[in-house]
Amino acid sequence: MAAGPEGAQARHVRVWDPLVRLFHWSLALSFAVAWFSAKTWSDLHVWAGYAAGSLIGVRLLWGVFGTRYARFSQFVRSPLSVLAYLKAIAQGGEARHIGHNPAGGAMVVALLVAIGATAVSGWALTTDAFWGDLAMQRLHDGIAHLLLLMVCAHLAGVALASFRHGENLVGAMLSGDKRAPSADDVA
Ligand code: HEM
Ligand code: HEM
Repeated sequence: MAAGPEGAQARHVRVWDPLVRLFHWSLALSFAVAWFSAKTWSDLHVWAGYAAGSLIGVRLLWGVFGTRYARFSQFVRSPLSVLAYLKAIAQGGEARHIGHNPAGGAMVVALLVAIGATAVSGWALTTDAFWGDLAMQRLHDGIAHLLLLMVCAHLAGVALASFRHGENLVGAMLSGDKRAPSADDVA
């Protein structure tokens, strides 16, 4: 490929817009703060939890009205496509996706739902109806722990895809750019 500014431009494509990147790192931070303050600092916990919940609200709107790779219609696939993709990973032949791959897309949806459910159950604990309610406390605590497992799976998925396709996905979530697609990639 030609050197120079035009060639350099063609080697990378913009994938994650600024809102997606700001959303992602703010969500990771508010989740971490909510988690670590859960037993020790309830005011901070509640605010970090509301921040995470509000971020989900913004992301849901952006998933409908946002830029190409931010849209749910671009990356949410049927359960059968997700299974087929997981099978392809096991066989070592999965395609590189410029946006979220089908398994990553399913995890994004699961994370958004679980964070939303954690924030809503946390809010419920502050209402008269569920104040001190043991079942609601267990539900809130349970989803939060499930979420922690899902975040671990998310990080493992990011590491695996980065390794398999020889690219730094964390860097892409910071800069917004990825290597331009080749003929075999799904763009
Ligand atoms: C240091 C920790 C983290 C790193 C390095 C990381 C990295 C990434 C990367 C690289 C992507 C893009 C994946 C792709 O290319 O398909 C991504 C997406 C995402 N991550 Fe994380 N992540 C971290 C923590 C978290 C946490 C704690 C959460 C939620 C509690 C989270 C939720 C998400 C969501 C919802 C997306 C989809 C972004 C979107 O389309 O808006 N991440 N993450
Ligand atoms: C991402 C968001 C959130 C996460 C990860 C999270 C996580 C947790 C965890 C793990 C606990 C259990 C602490 C323990 O074992 O004692 C907890 C407790 C609690 N959380 Fe959250 N939380 C979130 C959001 C919220 C929100 C939005 C609120 C309120 C508006 C809230 C209110 C509470 C309350 C009142 C408790 C104490 C319940 C009890 O007495 O056991 N949380 N949270």
